[in-house]
Amino acid sequence: MLYKEIAVRVKAKNPLMAEIFSLMSRDEARHAGFLNKAMQDFDMVLDLSGLSQTKKYTYFEPKFIFYATYLSEKIGYWRYIKIHQHLAAHPEDRVYPIFKFFESWCQDESRHGDFCNLLLKTDRRNIEGWQAKLWSRFFLLSVFATMYLNDLVNRKSFYEVLGMDTRQYVEAVLRDTNRDAAKAFPVILDLENPEFWARLQDCETSMAAIAQAQAGEQPKWQKAIAKLPHQLKLAGHFLKLFLLKPIAIDPASVR
Ligand SMILES: [Fe+2]
Ligand SMILES: [Fe+2]
Repeated sequence: MLYKEIAVRVKAKNPLMAEIFSLMSRDEARHAGFLNKAMQDFDMVLDLSGLSQTKKYTYFEPKFIFYATYLSEKIGYWRYIKIHQHLAAHPEDRVYPIFKFFESWCQDESRHGDFCNLLLKTDRRNIEGWQAKLWSRFFLLSVFATMYLNDLVNRKSFYEVLGMDTRQYVEAVLRDTNRDAAKAFPVILDLENPEFWARLQDCETSMAAIAQAQAGEQPKWQKAIAKLPHQLKLAGHFLKLFLLKPIAIDPASVR
């Protein structure tokens, strides 16, 4: 929907850009089509068609969209390809036909990421200077922490069904995405720093505690009080993770 919207809005000004965005939105519509088809098998429906009418628009500077989309495309690539590789080695774990399409699917995502990388490079301020470095760290950490916590706290059972080790999988995806990001960002995170993993692991405990407090029968205010110390702990971890020394990328090694 994002790509389609951009395609429509830039069409008059920049037809080439509009064409690229509309091709990417075609790819994403194909991915969504597969997912919709799969959901029907489980009697689930997800209709996003009304979203652009009912949801309020929030303005973000384009560069933020480029950083975030670059990373979500690339992390998507690594996630899909690792599931594909695991299932290629263990065909008996392929519990549902949708996984047969993961390889070509992940190649789409990688190409989308490459294009977002080019978009970032259209303005030197996105990839050079202290602001670019801070934003790169911010987006790397946000995307990595979100995936790490979602998978390890909420989606473990999914990976178990596929016969995968969730922790190994998440760590491998983060490492590969981080290494990849050196082609786009002026800094990447230092994933060899044991503090990075220790803090994320501690966040798992806080997330689980928050989920538990949320699930109870208590009134809202009681839940809020029960959740607060864990939320503060999470915030402290994120701040310290953000301040960990990153790895600077030598621009000459990329171009
Ligand atoms: Fe996609
Ligand atoms: Fe994509």
